[in-house]
Amino acid sequence: MNRHISIKNQNTIHILLQKKESIARDERKQSAASHISPLISSTDIHAPLRKMEKELAQLVGMQKVKQMLKEIYAYVYINQKRKEMNLQAEKQVLHMMFKGNPGTGKTTIARLIGNLFREMKILSKGHLIEVERADLVGEYIGHTALKTRDLIRKAQGGILFIDEAYSLARGGEKDFGKEAIDSLVANMENKKHEFILILAGYADEMENFLTLNPGLRSRFPFILEFPDYTAGELMQIAQKICQQKQYILTKEASQKLEWHLRENLYSNEEIHFSNGRYIRNILERAIRKQALRLLAVKNLQADDLLYLHTQDIEWK
Ligand SMILES: Nc1ncnc2c1ncn2[C@@H]1O[C@H](COP(=O)(O)OP(=O)(O)OP(=O)(O)O)[C@@H](O)[C@H]1O
Ligand SMILES: [Mg+2]
Repeated sequence: MNRHISIKNQNTIHILLQKKESIARDERKQSAASHISPLISSTDIHAPLRKMEKELAQLVGMQKVKQMLKEIYAYVYINQKRKEMNLQAEKQVLHMMFKGNPGTGKTTIARLIGNLFREMKILSKGHLIEVERADLVGEYIGHTALKTRDLIRKAQGGILFIDEAYSLARGGEKDFGKEAIDSLVANMENKKHEFILILAGYADEMENFLTLNPGLRSRFPFILEFPDYTAGELMQIAQKICQQKQYILTKEASQKLEWHLRENLYSNEEIHFSNGRYIRNILERAIRKQALRLLAVKNLQADDLLYLHTQDIEWK
């Protein structure tokens, strides 16, 4: 006889008396199950969706973006199934536009989409090439086409993400930015160039950009909006960043930061216009201030290293 202790619920410990044979039988079953389980998980047809949802769960707020990503997944998946069954499938255009202020998570989401499409075998690599106007627009005739082509080549099998894309249209007809747009649009439709183009920028300016060329809107069927974070969401982002970096805000430090955010969210343009990035910068500064403060401490304890104090939190 063997004693086998199992915890059935939080409060009760059950002691079971089992015969050796039954334990051996259980072990055989377990070992069979351990062979089967990887098979079961690999046949989870929606594994890419689940993986993405797990990563999205780490991100604060963004309810609309999260919902839209699920819709995009469903659209692509069902389109693939229709093709497999020889049913009429839509021509899959997956280029996107992200509208939102800096620090609202646009780059984070673009990276996640790259991974999702790689898992779904829509993109072979799923990497992200992040560029801005200066990377695309050249200084002499022919230079722009060369630069743009080179970037498209680098983005092959992945995502070409153009931040502040409206600035390409800034200089009007004579500017080389227009040449970059034309070259991008031509390549977007070219089957040889398998990449996804994401244009990002401030909401009004991107809306304005779309009106420049009547064909543009239909070339970007997915428009994702990234709203500014509330003070509460910014505090949650602060806690997440601390967790990732293995730091803890003392209660007072957390209150100081929250008070600052609540007081200044709408009056301070810097917070308003750099969202998550603003929080990341404050915490990175706090980490440096803590390090400086700790130089004077002789016998450093783990708690000294972990906690960020009120005097470490500064915004200017
Ligand atoms: N919803 C969120 N949850 C957790 N962290 C976030 C969230 N949104 C942004 N962040 C953090 O804020 C920072 C800025 O995010 P990201 O670079 O994705 O924004 P962005 O919109 O691309 O900004 P920019 O326009 O300045 O490039 C990152 O460090 C990211 O980790
Ligand atoms: Mg970015």
